[in-house]
Amino acid sequence: MRDTILVTGGAGFIGSNFILSWIRERRSPVINLDLLTYAGNPANLASLEDNRRYRLAVGDIGDAQFVANLLREHQPRAIVHFAAESHVDRSIASPEPFIRTNVLGTQILLEETRRYWAELWDEDRQAFRFLHVSTDEVYGSLGPGDRPFTEGAAYAPTNPYAASKAAADHLVRAYHCTWGLPVLITNSSNNFGPYQFPEKLIPLMTLNALEGQPLPVYGDGLQSRDWLFVEDHCAAIRTVLENGRIGETYHIGGNSERRNLDVVTAICDLVDEMRPDPAIGPRRKLVTFVEDRPGHDRRYALDAAKMARELGWRPSEDFDSGLRKAVRWYLDHPAWAESVRTGAYLDWIRQNYVERGAS
Ligand code: NAD
Ligand code: TYD
Repeated sequence: MRDTILVTGGAGFIGSNFILSWIRERRSPVINLDLLTYAGNPANLASLEDNRRYRLAVGDIGDAQFVANLLREHQPRAIVHFAAESHVDRSIASPEPFIRTNVLGTQILLEETRRYWAELWDEDRQAFRFLHVSTDEVYGSLGPGDRPFTEGAAYAPTNPYAASKAAADHLVRAYHCTWGLPVLITNSSNNFGPYQFPEKLIPLMTLNALEGQPLPVYGDGLQSRDWLFVEDHCAAIRTVLENGRIGETYHIGGNSERRNLDVVTAICDLVDEMRPDPAIGPRRKLVTFVEDRPGHDRRYALDAAKMARELGWRPSEDFDSGLRKAVRWYLDHPAWAESVRTGAYLDWIRQNYVERGAS
């Protein structure tokens, strides 16, 4: 077994931030297994092109032979599993790819990992870890006065994305309980920061605000989410990988609950400050209420006390400082935004927003 780690979905938003920070903070090599779907962008990792500690392997986690060959060739000591279909609205428009990748793909990855792990030498088998990256959405919605979800809360997913992630979490636990695979599970809050595909709330609103386009808020905009800066998530995953207890679940929260409308107006004010444009005027006037997402969960929040108590991790960024960094990043990287907002992206924007009554 080598010092290499295998990251799945490393060309996506969180995965690419994770690989960039891993290469900065740790010495061991990284293999990135990614199918390069619409959400995968190898340009996020362009700075590692000549780095001998990084390699991209383009393939599907659901391709057993491909996964088996990759494991045999690179002999990783750990797998960090990000690869997934990740956008709730797309899962409502078309659930099937979510089941294929998030459920079946995860099961195939687990099965090939189990075979690989079972044949390792004793010492290597004990050191090996499979870390599965999951979401707060598996628990469904909180009421206004409810306490944030703790580890062990009942699963109650309400949309196809959340249901597929819940199924994946159960499979990961099943591989641990049935075969002893040394797994770790992390469930995190909504992430934000650089390289997030602009179908998600914060980059979408930032780029639309910059250009003076409508800001489509679903329903009454009073749904709330807990927001976690992506760098904090990456640091938490490294901590769990290195010091987490096998078979345990850890909640990674940002301690930053905000209502959607408040997030959008905060973005408007930041874009006004950083890129004032008299032709557009105050961006708050671009807010447009559109038809709600079906089954829209009102509130998500995670209790991250276990991470602090057991592993000494806490988020270092608060929402306001993180949002300022994120908005600044999108404004400073117009070429990145341009490169991802091409054909498939524009089709999605037309499909999702024209049908909702925003143009
Ligand atoms: P993303 O959509 O930005 O990236 C997903 C990546 O997975 C892409 O690079 C894509 O090409 C790749 N991929 C998709 N299907 C694949 C397949 N079959 N085989 C190999 N690669 C495949 O997602 P993200 O926002 O970076 O999320 C990463 C993980 O974190 C997901 O598992 C998601 O459920 C979880 N998560 C995300 C958030 C969030 O706020 N973004 C919060 C909690 C948990
Ligand atoms: P999103 O970034 O899609 O993450 P998730 O659904 O996983 O929480 O959305 C965050 C919140 O913002 C969610 O409550 C839906 C809402 N939203 C809008 O109001 N308008 C939009 O255009 C988008 C993409 C999201």
